[in-house]
Amino acid sequence: MEKTIALIPGDGIGPDVVAEAVNVLDSVAKKFGHKWNYTKVIAGGSAIDQFGKPLPEEQLKIALDSDAALLGAVGGPKWDNLASELRPEKALLGLRGGMKVFANLRPAVMWKQLKDACPLKDEIVGDGLDILIVRELTGGIYFGERGTSEDQNTAWDTEKYTRPEIERIVRMGFEYAQKRQKRLCVVDKANILNSSQLWRRVAEDVKKDYPDVTLSYLYIDNASMQMVRNPRQFDVIATSNMFGDILSDEASQITGSIGMLASASLGDGTGPGLYEPIHGSAPDIAGKDLANPLATILSAAMLLRYSFGLETEAKAIEKAVNDVLDAGYRTGDIAGSHLAEVKAAGKLVGTKKMGELVVEYLNK
Ligand SMILES: NC(=O)c1ccc[n+]([C@@H]2O[C@H](COP(=O)([O-])OP(=O)(O)OC[C@H]3O[C@@H](n4cnc5c(N)ncnc54)[C@H](O)[C@@H]3O)[C@@H](O)[C@H]2O)c1
Repeated sequence: MEKTIALIPGDGIGPDVVAEAVNVLDSVAKKFGHKWNYTKVIAGGSAIDQFGKPLPEEQLKIALDSDAALLGAVGGPKWDNLASELRPEKALLGLRGGMKVFANLRPAVMWKQLKDACPLKDEIVGDGLDILIVRELTGGIYFGERGTSEDQNTAWDTEKYTRPEIERIVRMGFEYAQKRQKRLCVVDKANILNSSQLWRRVAEDVKKDYPDVTLSYLYIDNASMQMVRNPRQFDVIATSNMFGDILSDEASQITGSIGMLASASLGDGTGPGLYEPIHGSAPDIAGKDLANPLATILSAAMLLRYSFGLETEAKAIEKAVNDVLDAGYRTGDIAGSHLAEVKAAGKLVGTKKMGELVVEYLNK
């Protein structure tokens, strides 16, 4: 297979972690007989420095012309005092909007080797967590009509959804549930919100096409509670933009490590998907060879799975990551309370070495 991948390294640790993911992608290409052509998109703070704005049109076009895009992270203290329209983070909204990626997929996976980093009790997490949250990304209250009264004492935001906007998310939820444990939970606030009631009606209609998937509903307040009380009840969750925003952060925290979590933003399949770690540009450790590249490497695995349909190749990357962790190698962020032991065993590694290890185990 020959494909074009747009690389959007961004700022801070972004370029370092993307470089390691590229090494892994190259190794996959060699092993499985593919060819990746890379293009580079300058976005975020680096684009502000170079072009005076966070996402120039021609840079977005490079991403749009690709088959899939891999982003590091954007932002940093250097640009914190700019007007909001000029902030690096605007590049993220510009990319997501411009690429029309309406669904955000966030797997919250707890690696058994990193169980110590999970803040929940052993009996709650058992031998691991594996939840997939499908969050609506381009509608709802973040995009609805909003305003502030003239006297500045009243303000409003509107949660508005159309049937097609809901259907494409719910359908995606059913599709992934079908490939996993066949359980889909729609999270809403249908006891109060009309828009949530529409989510339920649409889910009931779509369910007819997926008779083998069990559909359940939870109110967002209960779902947030269940996420820490009994997270293993969840397989796939489909939800609105705001509820998904909150719930996916909660889910990511219970897995314990921000440096391990990948994400995919997908559209209707006619354009490229956007893949990125969920962490930011970590300016505190940028340029120090301390960043954990695994979230970006796992984002590259998602890219192969969801944009190119290369399940075997995606699994090979995930297995290599698993084997590297099994062998005891850790970056500082995932060494946790075992830092001294890991160090004594000579297995405390930096960004580059962690990337090299994944490549090494991929080729074993
Ligand atoms: N998608 C994005 O590009 C994105 C997302 C979040 C924040 N940001 C931006 O990143 C900058 C820093 O934000 P923040 O500090 O709130 O969040 P952050 O995720 O960058 O960092 C939070 C903490 O986690 C650590 N960390 C993050 N990624 C790590 C990794 N791969 N390996 C090891 N440790 C890691 C950092 O060192 C820091 O202590 C800000 O400018 C923010 O706007 C960008």
